[in-house]
Amino acid sequence: MKRTLITGITGQDGSYLAELLLDKGYKVYGLKRRTSTENYENIKHIRNDIEFISGDLADLSSLIQAVKLSKPDEVYNLGAQSFVADSWSQPLYTAEVTGLGALNMLEAVRQIKQDARFYQASSSEMFGKVIETPQTETTPFYPRSPYGVAKVYGHWITVNYRESFDIFACSGILFNHESPRRGIQFVTRKVTDAVARIKLGLQTELRLGNLDAKRDWGFAGDYVKAMWLMLQQGRSNDYVVATGKTHTVRELVEIAFTHVGLNWEDYVIQDPAFMRPAEVDLLLGDPQKAKKELGWEPKVSFEELIKMMVDHDMQKYGQNQ
Ligand code: NAP
Ligand code: GDD
Repeated sequence: MKRTLITGITGQDGSYLAELLLDKGYKVYGLKRRTSTENYENIKHIRNDIEFISGDLADLSSLIQAVKLSKPDEVYNLGAQSFVADSWSQPLYTAEVTGLGALNMLEAVRQIKQDARFYQASSSEMFGKVIETPQTETTPFYPRSPYGVAKVYGHWITVNYRESFDIFACSGILFNHESPRRGIQFVTRKVTDAVARIKLGLQTELRLGNLDAKRDWGFAGDYVKAMWLMLQQGRSNDYVVATGKTHTVRELVEIAFTHVGLNWEDYVIQDPAFMRPAEVDLLLGDPQKAKKELGWEPKVSFEELIKMMVDHDMQKYGQNQ
């Protein structure tokens, strides 16, 4: 039985990855930080199948202990302060958890179990003010947020530990991926949740920032398969994981409102409070390398994804009525 340690197991990706690895027969250990109130919503259906280890990415001693306890064959470092907008109000915390947290996890692996395979959750946010389109594994980085800068550090320290210590370490450069388990602050879920509430008479308007931003959005359930595939290869490498299609926030809004028979222009208000100090205008990934070497392809289209999320939120509020 293979053993895995997942950081960020309570998050969107952690929950889908844990499901995937449990299905494959792995013994799954999840690093969970201490919180005053419980936060198992995304993993409540598999909670009893996971062994939780208390720890924090900012605390190396807890990570060393977690590796000692779990003796993992594979480590997936998904934990992060992952909300770009908040990285301007908490830049030091973001650097510590999202950036240095990757180094802490790598150090724990190097010191305790150097033969463990390591996955780092890198991000298309590293491309920021894009130098070329579409973005590939060789596109230079130009991060536009403290979060993006922290992820660039996480990416390069992963590459460096691979080259310095021969650790099997992969950096997955994942473009935006969403699901009904997406946090409510991120734009897709903010929109689908609001659409359901407006349709059911629980809310009257939706305040958004930049409607012109373009993102390459895919389904999280598809993307965690790419993470696993990276760690099954003959040699460690870095991969872009994306759909190869891009859409504006405006298109997202239109699809979501139209799905429940509403006209988005009657409800959406642009609010400067949701504009960012520096924006990433366009992301469009080229997933050719992942397709060729991993045999990975996305299955869920953008339209299917948004409808799936709206349907989920309609059901959630419908049931609560
Ligand atoms: P998410 O839902 O925000 O989950 C983040 C996870 O990190 C949560 O489990 C959170 O725990 C945990 N965490 C936060 N601070 C921590 C700390 N100090 N110590 C230990 N754990 C901590 O994010 P996601 O969407 O699943 O993304 C997973 C990873 O992929 C993140 O690193 C993200 O930056 C990266 N990424 C995401 C996307 C995307 O589009 N989703 C794209 C590229 C890269 P709590 O539940 O306690 O908050
Ligand atoms: N959150 C949010 N809220 N975003 C808005 C809003 C709003 O009200 N209005 C417009 N947007 C725009 C943002 O300015 C951005 O251009 C786009 O919608 C997407 O924002 P988010 O959903 O917050 O995601 P993100 O692209 O900033 O970051 C996500 O993707 C990265 C990968 O590219 C996060 O998951 C990161 O952790 C991830 O690395």
